[in-house]
Amino acid sequence: MEFKVVAKIIAVTQQKGGVGKSTIAMHLGAAFYEKEKKVLVIDADGQNTLVHWSNITCEKTDIPFPIINLAESGEKIYKEIKKFVSDYNLIIVDCPPSITEKISSVVLLAASIAVIPISSSPADYWSSIGLIKLIQQAQVINKALKAVFLLNKTEEKRMLTRELKQSLKEISLPVLKTQIPTRECYKQAMALGQTVLQMTDRSSKLASAEIRACANEISALLNKFSI
Ligand SMILES: Nc1ncnc2c1ncn2[C@@H]1O[C@H](COP(=O)(O)OP(=O)(O)OP(=O)(O)O)[C@@H](O)[C@H]1O
Ligand SMILES: [Mg+2]
Repeated sequence: MEFKVVAKIIAVTQQKGGVGKSTIAMHLGAAFYEKEKKVLVIDADGQNTLVHWSNITCEKTDIPFPIINLAESGEKIYKEIKKFVSDYNLIIVDCPPSITEKISSVVLLAASIAVIPISSSPADYWSSIGLIKLIQQAQVINKALKAVFLLNKTEEKRMLTRELKQSLKEISLPVLKTQIPTRECYKQAMALGQTVLQMTDRSSKLASAEIRACANEISALLNKFSI
């Protein structure tokens, strides 16, 4: 008897713009593709960062997993995502930088886990509070939904990063142990239409190890809660 695959859905979401949602979504896609093979990444943001990223090289894309554009789906995105759940192990959704757009709340209704990138700016922290409320609302219907913060663009020696970590301890959501430091190679990867996992310089190798560790932590959470 063949078991039907049902994809787990990761929503990469944050109200604040520029915190690294698209960068994290694309790189989680790459790390999980290495592990699980059947990965779909959905671009749910009208800026279409991931669609552009994967189409930078004209002849053929260097991104080895499919990326589809559902940014125009609005509330119908729930139905659209569900069409793919039996064809993939994992679906990663890059959400728009707004929680007032219906798409952000509807993706949370379909998701197994929300990964919330946050950098050390106080504005990121404040906008996370609005997002937490949205997650709590989604959890009334989607009871299995979990959420974690991911510290991105960290500068370990900066006081703000240390203060942010302290503030996050006071919020009710866990923070992944793995942090993603500021590394130029993430910008280069986007410009080259690749991910750091395909790049061979020293910084990209460090970045690849961090991204893989991050994917492993998320994978462990998905398994722990069987979500
Ligand atoms: N860890 C990092 N180190 C260095 N640069 C980074 C890192 N993460 C993201 N960036 C850069 O920060 C910029 C914003 O990243 P990204 O587009 O992923 O953010 P976003 O949250 O998706 O933005 P938006 O809200 O506009 O969708 C990009 O230039 C990206 O290359
Ligand atoms: Mg984006």
